[in-house]
Amino acid sequence: MPLTIRKAIFPVGGLGTRFLPATKSMPKEMLPIVDKPLIQYAVEEAVEAGIEEFIFVTGRGKSAIEDHFDHAYELQEMLEKRNKTAALKVVKDSIPKPGQIAYTRQLEPLGLGHAIWCARNFVGSEPVAVLLADDLILSENGCLKQMIEAYNQVGGNMVAVMEVEKYQTSSYGIVTPGNIKNSLIEVLDLIEKPKESEAPSNLAVIGRYILQPNIFNDLSRFEKGTGGEIQLTDSIARQVGLEPLNGFKFDGQRFDCGSKIGFLEANIAYALRREDLREPIQQFIQKMI
Ligand code: G1P
Repeated sequence: MPLTIRKAIFPVGGLGTRFLPATKSMPKEMLPIVDKPLIQYAVEEAVEAGIEEFIFVTGRGKSAIEDHFDHAYELQEMLEKRNKTAALKVVKDSIPKPGQIAYTRQLEPLGLGHAIWCARNFVGSEPVAVLLADDLILSENGCLKQMIEAYNQVGGNMVAVMEVEKYQTSSYGIVTPGNIKNSLIEVLDLIEKPKESEAPSNLAVIGRYILQPNIFNDLSRFEKGTGGEIQLTDSIARQVGLEPLNGFKFDGQRFDCGSKIGFLEANIAYALRREDLREPIQQFIQKMI
């Protein structure tokens, strides 16, 4: 029986240059989809999956994230005085219990693999989930919850995967697939951002991972890969043969909120699911087209 996943890492150190000027003084993870910041969707997905400890790997200019997951006394007091109970509940519900969240800074932007390595002392010797808030996944059951259910059967390392267009392989970690069993695809190899002509498939890694603690030893080699960065993909690939590695085809629609079009699509999709917004947004879209 594999060890339960209690901890999750949220790498939130990225600069968000694709959303300038919006991200000049605001972390990209605080960009809202309708009325909730991206990072809160990721945290809620982790909570739904049973995660109890949240480890944020941050960087300069990211303190708004810490403030977001803390009490805002003046605001709460004002909402209470004005009897705004629904809004007060929304604010309070987003706050984890004391000690559940830990923050550490990456200090240098050396890549996703390095960011994950920075969380090693908070994780210790147990398996851990990783969630990239840019990848927003709309589904009945949260993507990480689905993954952990599958992981409880097979253990090892696991990455969420989905099919992308061939021309898009150079934006993703790409899988060499082996045997397929329902939602699980055996992964024989992984390569970070291959050119279309060199891609072993069109199965791309999406930002949800379950990793065994051995990954930290490999990450501490600080080997540089694609783009001169320490790539998480490379360390996971080097664990093939030492740990089972599976790709998990999740149920749900994924939005690349690191891109403008994905971010806009997510806003529309999430607005269409909201009772208070569905009709007006439908009417607006019809009018515009
Ligand atoms: C990261 C990973 C990549 C993965 C992608 C998913 O890339 O390095 O393997 O496919 O996330 O969104 P990034 O988008 O940070 O460049």
